[in-house]
Amino acid sequence: MKPLKDLSSRELSIKVIKEIENGRALQETLDHYLNKNKLNSSDKALATNLVYGYFRLKNRLLFVLKNRIRQFKKLPNRFLHPMCLAVYEILYLDRIPDYATVNFYVEYIKKNVDKKLVGLSNGVLRNICREKNSYLHKDFYKNNTKNEIEFFEVYYSIPQKILELLLNQYTIKQARCFLEKSIDRPYIGIRINKKLVEAVKLIENLELEKKYILKHETRIYGFDQFEDVDKLEQRGILSKKSFESQIILQQIKCFVKEPIWDICAGIGGKLTYFLEEDICDIWASDVDFKKLIYLKKELLRLKLKEILVFLADGTKNFPLKKAPNTIILDVPCTGFGVLSRRPDIKYRFNEKRLKDLLQIQKRLLENSIEFLPAGGILVYITCTWNKMENGDMIEGILGKYDYLNLLKEIDFDFCSKYREFFYCAVLKKQ
Ligand SMILES: C[S@@+](CC[C@H](N)C(=O)[O-])C[C@H]1O[C@@H](n2cnc3c(N)ncnc32)[C@H](O)[C@@H]1O
Repeated sequence: MKPLKDLSSRELSIKVIKEIENGRALQETLDHYLNKNKLNSSDKALATNLVYGYFRLKNRLLFVLKNRIRQFKKLPNRFLHPMCLAVYEILYLDRIPDYATVNFYVEYIKKNVDKKLVGLSNGVLRNICREKNSYLHKDFYKNNTKNEIEFFEVYYSIPQKILELLLNQYTIKQARCFLEKSIDRPYIGIRINKKLVEAVKLIENLELEKKYILKHETRIYGFDQFEDVDKLEQRGILSKKSFESQIILQQIKCFVKEPIWDICAGIGGKLTYFLEEDICDIWASDVDFKKLIYLKKELLRLKLKEILVFLADGTKNFPLKKAPNTIILDVPCTGFGVLSRRPDIKYRFNEKRLKDLLQIQKRLLENSIEFLPAGGILVYITCTWNKMENGDMIEGILGKYDYLNLLKEIDFDFCSKYREFFYCAVLKKQ
């Protein structure tokens, strides 16, 4: 049998986009194909840039094409996907010459889509190259949309339902601040594993070079670029984590009391922070078995102590006899606060999903509150700005259980320098 040919970064991106639009998660799908194909580091970076760029700006890219193609509605995705990537390259990837982009995608359409569409793709892309400057300007989108709402939907590539929620809950100025950040690349957040001796050297170097943009404590940094990040991560010296999520942990550290039970532990992004701080009596569970396997690998990578890890659905009866002194609920949520990192989720949102999430969050909270002993602490975290999942949810719970006190609430400011937004409430059971 003839061996399968490796895909180029652009072919790989088109394949990954198709799968994500069929329901697969972005980073997992991209990693799968990047591992399967032998690409050098600059090709890997191009594929990553194309896939993320497509999902961050999808509505805007389609709008440009719609503006140039009369029969746009009749065109299939297998034509629109490569065309959107071509537009993205022409408008936003300055280092690739326009002729190289046009040649590749026209040839791709000829070989893989439909020979009859070659003339159309060639003409449209050449015109976009010629009028690039106008497509790069916000005014093009302002002048060609009916009103500010449609402009937001197109320019910031935000689906209508999410935009409605945002504008119902926040001022137009706050919404604009958020939308600008939702299409930016997130900072590369790193948390240095201070338990390893190599960490001291790394911190010294970082402080000498001062290339970081954000810094919190002595071990949490944010960068626009960080060259050796993957190698250092493999060696356990650091973890790539959203900078903003790690700040929250430092702010709540003084409230937690061991033993701690992290009920939605996932791959352990939060609990490993505590282990690295020598807060070690932690139990971890999740409803997703695959994530727990990954969590165990994370503990090994970071050379951290083994902890109790088990499968459990936090909305059902709890399987433990002994209660912890702190429960951490880093709940599943709409994820609207992390769209720059996970832009695919905005296209998957629907009202049924929100209703289900609200129910799961409420059940997780109620179960945990009932299980905690008097004096116990509950930490509730989301990565969304949706008030229904944040302040309103906590207000409802405080109204239902009069023996609960709110010790701390960490809300966010859309106009801050951060590009991701988390919410956290710390509650105490009297
Ligand atoms: C926001 S993620 C947690 C991320 C994790 N704490 C971290 O920092 O890496 C939410 C987690 O909740 C888990 N989850 C969803 N429903 C659950 C349930 N009913 N019981 C327990 N965990 C659940 C998901 O599998 C997911 O891992």
